[in-house]
Parts: sequence; C-alpha cells; structure tokens
Amino acid sequence: MTARIIDGKAAAADLRARVGDAAAAFEAKAGRKAGLAVVLVGEDPASAVYVRSKGKATVAAGMASFEHRLDADVAEADLLALVDRLNADPAVDGILVQLPLPKHIRESVVIERIVPEKDVDGFHPVNAGRLATGLEGFVPCTPLGCLMLLKTELGDLTGKDAVVIGRSNIVGKPMAALLTRASATVTIAHSRTKDLAGHVARADIVVAAVGIAQFVKGEWLKPGATVIDVGINRTDTGLVGDVDFDSAASVAAAITPVPGGVGPMTIAVLLRNTLVAAYRNAD
Ligand code: GUN
Repeated sequence: MTARIIDGKAAAADLRARVGDAAAAFEAKAGRKAGLAVVLVGEDPASAVYVRSKGKATVAAGMASFEHRLDADVAEADLLALVDRLNADPAVDGILVQLPLPKHIRESVVIERIVPEKDVDGFHPVNAGRLATGLEGFVPCTPLGCLMLLKTELGDLTGKDAVVIGRSNIVGKPMAALLTRASATVTIAHSRTKDLAGHVARADIVVAAVGIAQFVKGEWLKPGATVIDVGINRTDTGLVGDVDFDSAASVAAAITPVPGGVGPMTIAVLLRNTLVAAYRNAD
C-alpha cells in the first residue's frame, strides 16, 4: 500500500481564504480590522521564523498584526506589563506569546495573565477547562488543525480507535480531548508507555507529537491507518517528523508529510481563532 498524502498546505490555503473573507466582513461591520498581537522574547531562530510567518499570514488575511519583540533578559514583570496593555487594547483581539520563554520567566504565570477572551492559543487554564468540559472556548491551534485534517480525510470519527503519542498541554492533551469529543476511543501514550508498538498496532488514527525524529515506525502501524505527524525535527538531512515517513507510507492509508502537513494548518487555525475572538469581543 502507498499512502495518500494529506495536503496540509492546500487545506490551510483553503481555511486562510475563508478567514480572509470573514475578516473583510468583520472590518465592514466593526469599522476596524481584527487584530493579533504576537510577542517574541529573545532571539531563538526557530521562534523568530514562526513569529515572522504568523505576522505575514495575519496581514495577508486582511487582519492587523502587532509584533512585540523583547530582549531575552527582559524581567518577567515587564512582560506581564506588556500583556496587561494588550489585554486592555481594544485593537487587539488575540494575544500570542511565543513559547518557549527564557528560563527565568514562568510560562504558566504569563499564560494565566492573558485574558481568556484573547487567548487565541487556547493555553489558558480557563480555555483548557472549557475544552475538557465541552464548553465553547479557544482550542489550541495545532490539535484543532489536526482534527480538521482528520475529519476531511475520514469524515465521522465515531468509534475510531485513536492513539495520541505525546501528552503536552500544547498538543497531546487537547488533541485527546478533541478526539474524545468527536466520539473516537482515545489512548494517550507517551515516553513512559509500555508496549507503544502494541497500542499503535490497534489504532485507526495515530497522532504523533513526541518531538523525537522518525520515532514511529511503519511496522507498528495497522494497515490502512491514518497518520498525523506533528513533529518538526531538524536533523542533518533536513526537517523530519516524528514518524518514519517512508516505512509508514507503505502501510498507512493516509499520512501528513513534514513539511507541508500539520505545520501550515497551525497558522491558519490561529487566524481563524483570532477572527472568532474579534467577533465575540465585538458583540
Ligand atoms: N511554540 C510552538 N508552538 C506554539 C504555539 O502554537 N503557540 C505558541 N504561543 N508558542 C508555540
């Protein structure tokens, strides 16, 4: 079997176009553009690339982008003061503080300082709790993008066996919550899971978000599985995912490539969340 390649780039372009139309409608109604503020602390090259792409995509979708760059040694109190100003700024609908933050800054304190209504990352405990309890709120961009790809690929997910590898607050936990909400039967696996290959072998859906290059092997997969690879690992041979693509593609029915799979969806969902925030905050 040779897997179908799930084209995240095309799906993201589609979503961005729809968000662009809705952003124009918002501007006509509200008399201002929907606005996203992105905060980058320090000079981490990968984070700088992400922040630049987010800014560009925001403007391309007809929204306002506010970029704030702070020195790596900025005091936590100064970052919190910036978050307070953005919370109070009526031109800012969404706030994203790029992670990871330097060691001397407590990420959880910064995340909790963002008002939940502007937390377009969906990282605030109020939004995490809303997702866990089935209430409306903001859902983290990467897992929501994965869910969209899965629904396009498979349609109804009811009764599907899903294994999520990774238990981070950014991907694994919200991914499991979304799949559960979609009536899949979900196993959360992680680095301490016994017999990971045995769990993966039973799964119709595998979402890999462990951050280890080419960790998931094709031999583990159930033939015909759908594989979503969230990993972005820089190696000597270039960018690779958490899934060993070549062996997986010979067993799976469908798989996301790296790059060009999940990555583009993350930014498109961020724009979508920002627009949702703008409409909610304007009502
Ligand atoms: N770092 C890696 N992914 C993300 C993300 O989705 N949001 C933020 N704020 N930081 C990240």
